[in-house]
Parts: sequence; C-alpha cells; structure tokens
Amino acid sequence: GAASVRLDPAFTVGPLNRRIFGTFVEHMGRCVYTGIHEPGHPTADEHGFRTDVAELVSELGPTIVRYPGGNFVSNYRWEDGVGPKEDRPTRLDLAWRSIETNQVGTDDFLSWASRLGIEPMLAVNLGTRGLTEAIELLQYCNAEPGIELSDRRVKNGHPDPHDVRVWCLGNEMDGPWQMGHKTAEEYARLAEETARAMRRFDDSLELVACGSSNRSMPTFGTWERVVLERCFDFVDHISAHAYYEPVDGDVDSFLACAEDMDRFIRAVVATADHVAAVKGSDKRVSVSFDEWNVWFQARFDGESSLAVREAPELIEDVYSVTDAVVVGSLLITLMQHTDRVSMACQAQLVNVIAPIATRPGGPAWRQAIFHPFALTARYAAGTVLRPAVVSDVVQTQAFGAVDQLLTTATLDPDTGDLVVFAVNRSRTEDCALTIDLDALAHSVASVGSTGSTGSTGSTGSVGGAGGRAAYPSGRRLEHLTLHDADPNAHNTEAEPERVVPRAGDAVLDGGTVRAVLPPISWHCIRIT
Ligand code: AHR
Repeated sequence: GAASVRLDPAFTVGPLNRRIFGTFVEHMGRCVYTGIHEPGHPTADEHGFRTDVAELVSELGPTIVRYPGGNFVSNYRWEDGVGPKEDRPTRLDLAWRSIETNQVGTDDFLSWASRLGIEPMLAVNLGTRGLTEAIELLQYCNAEPGIELSDRRVKNGHPDPHDVRVWCLGNEMDGPWQMGHKTAEEYARLAEETARAMRRFDDSLELVACGSSNRSMPTFGTWERVVLERCFDFVDHISAHAYYEPVDGDVDSFLACAEDMDRFIRAVVATADHVAAVKGSDKRVSVSFDEWNVWFQARFDGESSLAVREAPELIEDVYSVTDAVVVGSLLITLMQHTDRVSMACQAQLVNVIAPIATRPGGPAWRQAIFHPFALTARYAAGTVLRPAVVSDVVQTQAFGAVDQLLTTATLDPDTGDLVVFAVNRSRTEDCALTIDLDALAHSVASVGSTGSTGSTGSTGSVGGAGGRAAYPSGRRLEHLTLHDADPNAHNTEAEPERVVPRAGDAVLDGGTVRAVLPPISWHCIRIT
C-alpha cells in the first residue's frame, strides 16, 4: 500500500486544544485504592498516594482529569469522602458492587491533582441525588470561606477554594445500567435546573451535559437533541463515550474504529448545531469526549456478576501493540476535531482499562497504550493542520473502505516545529508514505532553525532567499514508532519494557519525508 500527504499551513483545523489529552479516575476496582492511593506502599507520600504512580502519571502527561465517576458517581454521597478519615463511613457502592471505604474523597483527590498540575473535572450525582447535593458540593469546593459549606472545607484543612471550573451534570444517564437512569426528557429537565442553579453560584463555570454512552444507543441523536433543546443556554459541552474492541475477532474493523469516533463526533456536532439553528443562536456547544479507550467488554460479565469486595480487580485489561496502535489512532481523530472537541478523557488512568498498571505493595508499569498517549501529549503543539491525504484503502466489515493511513500534524507557529502522527491501519500491508513539505517551505521558511532571522510567516524563501534556508533545511527529523513483529506483544510486571517506542526509519529527502510504515504501526515523526 501507499499514501501521500501534503501539509500546508494555510489549511488548519485550529489551535491544538490540550484538554483533549485528559484522563479519568473513578472509584472503581483498583483505580483509586492500590492504584493512585496506597498508604503503606514503600513509595507512598504523606497523604497516602503512591509516588511511583504519580511519576508515571506525570510522564503520561494528562492535562485534565475527570472524577469520581463514571457509574460510581450516580450513587455517591460526596459528604462521605470529606473530613477526618477515621470518621468516614464504609458504604456499599452498588454501581460496581464494591465496598467503598471513602479513604479518598473530593479534597484528597483535588489536592493530588493540584500537586501534579492536572486540571480537575468533577461529576455530580444526578442518579440517586439531585440539584441540592450538586450545588452543595459546588459550594463546598469553590466558595470563599464564610458560609457553612466552605467553612467545613476550611475545617477539613483546605482554606483556599479548589476553584473547579468544569462540572459534569451526571454520568451516562441514557444507560439503563446507570443508577437513576432517565429518559431524555427527565434528564433534560434535571440537568437544566441543576445547571441553572450552579450558574447562580458562578456563571463562568463550564458545564457538561450527558450525551450518549455510545453511538449505538437506541436513543442516540434524539437524546442529544432533547437534552440540548432544554439545556442549550446553560451548558457549554455535551459528552460522548466510546469503548472499542475487536468484535467476533474482526481486527480489521477494530484497527479502523477511529472511524466510529469520527462519525460520532460529527453527528453530535451536527445535532448541537441543529439545535443552535432552531434557536437562532450562534453559540457552539462542543463535545466532551470524556470516556474513550480500548475495552474488551466481551470479557466482562457485567456488574451483577460481581462478588462484593473492597478494591476488587475489575476489568484490568492487558493491552497489546495492536491496542496501542488503535489508541494512537483515536488520539489522531481527537486532534482532527480539536476545533469542536473541548475535552477528551482516556478511561481510566490506573489498573481499570488503563495505561498504568500496579501491583499492591509492588511496582507500577506502563502498558503498551501508555506510549502513544504520552508521546502525543508531549510532542503535539501549536496548530493542528488539515493534511491532504491520498491513501490506499483497507476494506472493513464495520465501516466499509477506510484509508489505510490515518494522520494528523501539528505545526508550532513560534518554532516551526512540525510533528506528524500517523497510523498504518492495515493488518497485512506496508504503507509507503511520502509527506510533501513544499508548502511549508513557502510559508514557514526557517523559523527557529539555522539562518533564521526570527521572523515568522515569510514567503518566497525557497532556496534561501533573503539569507534563509528553505524549510526544512537546518532541521532534523526524529521518528518514533510503535510496532512489533508480534502485534499481540504486551507489557507485564515481569517484562514491563517488552513494548516501547523505537526509532523508525523515516528520512528527509529535500522537502519530502519518506518512510515505510509496517502493518499495524503507530508513528510520531518530528521535524525540529
Ligand atoms: O469506565 C468504566 C465505565 O464505563 C464507567 O463507569 C461508565 O461511565 C462507563 O460505562
């Protein structure tokens, strides 16, 4: 197979919105307990949080973190998780049929996120609770001292408001599995009134209405319309969730599942804009893709099968190179929609369908899916370009013919650094890739490279006119790739470095990048 790509800085999606590199911590399985938090672990800090995990989280580089659920939030009493730890009640969480000790709660989590420099995004319980508890939690978190709720926070050791800006109005309320599941009309009314009340406290909050739990929900499309017709003036974002796995062993469709995410985002954007049109509004509600990942749901028997336990091993999927390539492709798709996707959270952060795995009392290690996330979050910068792609196709059962090559690129307007992310979605064929940089030579010149005068956006500098070298002259290419002769290769506690990014063989040939991308491979090609 083959693909050619032209990059032209005149064609952009928009400035990269770094909130698409978000993550998710739910009180579920071992995400919190023995995941991020384990007092008594050799690396635990004075708050009981594992510093070995915190170091990996920093390396992963999430920008925003959603908490505390997930299905868990729909039966959560936030008051149980604040105050002296010895006074906190042990409860039965019916979402995951688990014993919840409440040894980690809102203050503990927000302080942890703040220490790591990650913006928090809190969900309120609109399942078993409602407006009152939501605005009380909001005041507990964000109010200045001087009222009972914020004084309780001060007494609990947090004098400064947490100033949480982003709030989710419930979780997956369209799903019959959700505690307090609602019809679109019921949810829309509750979300509208809760949002209205939260805005009375602070009109500058960013509020996320629940959208659909996946694109195959029977209410998909109608749900978004009904919810936004009610909540349009009070919310900024509408959520989307999606988990992918090979269905009946169909790896070709699995490798192309970013197509589903792409169609999902387009449909939600169209629905939101339809509601705006009917209302005669120019407001643009954006998509909060606040749960996404590879999840082998076929291996999970469902919540009702679970024996009641504390911090059980729940859906601890082990990820392969193929899964990592898919995760890389989903990140590419999110970047391609950086203009309308306001947040995206890979679900979840530790142990539960997660890039980071731990053993209680033992080590923490990177799963294969850690790498495309960490490298994308680290290197993507500046403006997301809209590449022109001509690619051979792969036939898939689920999506028909899809491009073999999926790609996006960012260009940093200050430095001229270009980063191309690419996936070869074929299971069997190489992809001979060429990337034509001619248009960059015309418009980026040599910003930040040898011979640069420091000015940006000059034109007509091909061949070094005006003393400048043509792009990419003076720059170097670095190519990192995730690929393995065994696409099922994965990392384990015993072999945590089995799957790591390796140097690829892309070359710069004048104004053209050339590389041969092997089957099932993810790539990050940097020209700096
Ligand atoms: O991330 C696991 C679960 O998936 C979440 O609790 C729920 O929101 C979704 O169905």
